[in-house]
Amino acid sequence: MTRQATQVGIVGAGPAGLLLGHLLHLNGIDSVIVEDRSREHVIDRVRAGVLEQGTVDLMAAMGVGGGVEHAGLRHAGLYISFLGQRHRIDLTELTGGKAITVYGQNEVVRDLIDARTATGRPLYFETEDVGVAELDSTEPVIRFRHGGSAHELRCDFIAGCDGFHGVCRPSIPSGALTVYEREYPFGWLGILAEAAPSSDELVYTLHERGFALFSMRSPKVTRLYLQVPPDEPIEQWSDDAIWDEMLRRMTTRDGWKPNIGRITQKSVTPMRSFVAAPMRHGRLFLAGDAAHIVPPTGAKGLNLAASDVLVLARALKGFYERGSSDWLNEYSDTCLRRVWKAQRFSWWMTSTLHRSPDETAFDHQRQIADLDYLTSSCAAMTSLAEQYVGLPMEVSFESAGLPAGG
Ligand code: FAD
Ligand code: DHB
Repeated sequence: MTRQATQVGIVGAGPAGLLLGHLLHLNGIDSVIVEDRSREHVIDRVRAGVLEQGTVDLMAAMGVGGGVEHAGLRHAGLYISFLGQRHRIDLTELTGGKAITVYGQNEVVRDLIDARTATGRPLYFETEDVGVAELDSTEPVIRFRHGGSAHELRCDFIAGCDGFHGVCRPSIPSGALTVYEREYPFGWLGILAEAAPSSDELVYTLHERGFALFSMRSPKVTRLYLQVPPDEPIEQWSDDAIWDEMLRRMTTRDGWKPNIGRITQKSVTPMRSFVAAPMRHGRLFLAGDAAHIVPPTGAKGLNLAASDVLVLARALKGFYERGSSDWLNEYSDTCLRRVWKAQRFSWWMTSTLHRSPDETAFDHQRQIADLDYLTSSCAAMTSLAEQYVGLPMEVSFESAGLPAGG
């Protein structure tokens, strides 16, 4: 048995765990990150693509923004398409200069792993049997196996950054958490294709056959999504069938459509809204998908993981620098204010742009009216724009030990 001790034990090397580890490093706080998958798996996992302005600013302030700045695609607007017509919403004009940046989550994770490695601080991949215990004590513990031997990591605090299917949230005694949940009767079939993006900006489409989304990863790679039933077997979709359906839903009356190319990745993701509250039990703090899930339509999940860990870093800094637990005690309420606004926005984007199996003709006409209003009212477009580029983070960058900017 190998015994170790650290100030903050972090479970999970996704965006939440890696960002937190680096924020703590910048404040001189020790951490150990424990991840159960391999480095390659974590980097290759294709997921999010849209970074809010605040997430890009945060990464820059942390000194890990070089990749985003160099290869990220800054978008000043997006399109909403319905009844065969695209309508542009100018995010930058409506938000006083803010934008979103398209930069794959796997690139974010790669940059953060490189930054972690450069600090020389521990990051264990391919751990097994990870468990957390003694959460109510002042020395909670993470136990895991690595390289054939058992490890016990004593911590002052544990950060549960292990995603929706991780072990941290289920380790909290039942009854201590309230769960708020909503499942949707559809999922997203997502593909990556070797095709130059045919639009410089994202296109969110409501078609009578269902939702479709045009996005991208680089000047040579297009990323597309299609609403499908939630348990749709991906094997049922040949590449030709995927392109037929994408073109059917996305082609607009002026002839715009995505370019076709070789499909290099495809998968189906179910959609749910989920919040577990409070985001803390004893000395275990949950952050990111471990505490909450949003349906991907609003592009908020990764961005919420970033805002959670900024709040957590501030709280831990307050504890170590001033011996104060005030910010730790406020952690959950502070995060949940922003989380619930993102939940509301993601639910609204999802229900406005997808077709439900149980919807009535009235519901569909109301959706069309909603989109017609959205794309013709400056007030409605401004509301979408300020939420899409990201509502303000609840705490300042300086309070978490970073240069100004948030
Ligand atoms: P994760 O990324 O899930 O990381 C958790 C880590 O913990 C993983 O590396 C996992 O392997 C590890 N782990 C799990 N269990 C254990 C264990 N027992 N022990 C040790 N380690 C463990 N968000 C956006 O902001 N913008 C978007 O455009 C967007 N698009 C999306 C599109 C799709 C198709 C999907 C599926 C998601 C999208 N999201 C988007 C959501 C985003 O990907 C997630 O919210 C984000 O990954 C959350 O980061 P996290 O670090 O909290 O969790
Ligand atoms: C992407 C993902 C989203 O969930 C979204 O709303 C927009 C874009 C993407 O993967 O590019």
